[in-house]
Amino acid sequence: MRTFPVEKLPHHLAIIMDGNGRWAKAKMMRRIVGHRQGVTTVQEIVGECSRLGIGYLTLYAFSAENWARPKTEVQALMSLLKRFIRLEIPRMLKDNVRFNVIGDRQALPADVNREINHAYEQTGANTGLVLTLALSYGSRQEIIQAVRGIAADVASGRLDLAAVSEAELERHLFTAQMPDPDLLIRTSGEMRISNFLLWQLAYAELYFCEVNWPEFTIAELHRALQHFCERERRFGLTSDQLQERK
Ligand code: FPP
Repeated sequence: MRTFPVEKLPHHLAIIMDGNGRWAKAKMMRRIVGHRQGVTTVQEIVGECSRLGIGYLTLYAFSAENWARPKTEVQALMSLLKRFIRLEIPRMLKDNVRFNVIGDRQALPADVNREINHAYEQTGANTGLVLTLALSYGSRQEIIQAVRGIAADVASGRLDLAAVSEAELERHLFTAQMPDPDLLIRTSGEMRISNFLLWQLAYAELYFCEVNWPEFTIAELHRALQHFCERERRFGLTSDQLQERK
């Protein structure tokens, strides 16, 4: 089993799980079969991130724009999500994983919200990996609601206009309690961010790979982490400045 220098691993890993439909189509199967296989990949990757000691794993499971997909696919995805959340609780308890959701929860069906609430109750005290599912999530929408919150605070006099800062905006995002992602992985060969964590990914390293999500194995995850460990993160500084700080 591969080992990585713990101090170099991303503290927060975000993944755009893409290519379920194409994987299924290539095998002459229905798209939902690809999503089902994608759930198996999710289980494996969550387990491995937890084992490696990664602090936060955020998965883009359903975007605000995905509601426009055919009704049958949306229903199938909601039903898979519900089942996944319910069935994963014992494993999350065993692995000390805390479950979390970001996105517009009001748009989700009531039965999915019930499972989310149940998972919050069950895993809320866990102190290991924080597993966040982005559900009905759109980053622009998230930023708009943050701006509205700040505007309301300014209008009511609770906040001085001059005190509006990056930290203040972050306080209004769904991710307020989380560090920014260090690494974003997107599978299936697409090189886009697709309205995912636009603010939070400002300094993330980006990693794109060709494999579709149902075939994203632990070995593929290790390859991405290996690349990440070898990158020099400069945060706007020069390479020489970074060396001087060491
Ligand atoms: C993108 O593939 C994937 C999605 C829109 C949904 C991701 C959902 C899962 C992996 C399963 C459920 C998730 C959890 C956490 C239980 P696509 O359908 O856009 O594939 P395509 O681009 O090949 O059509």
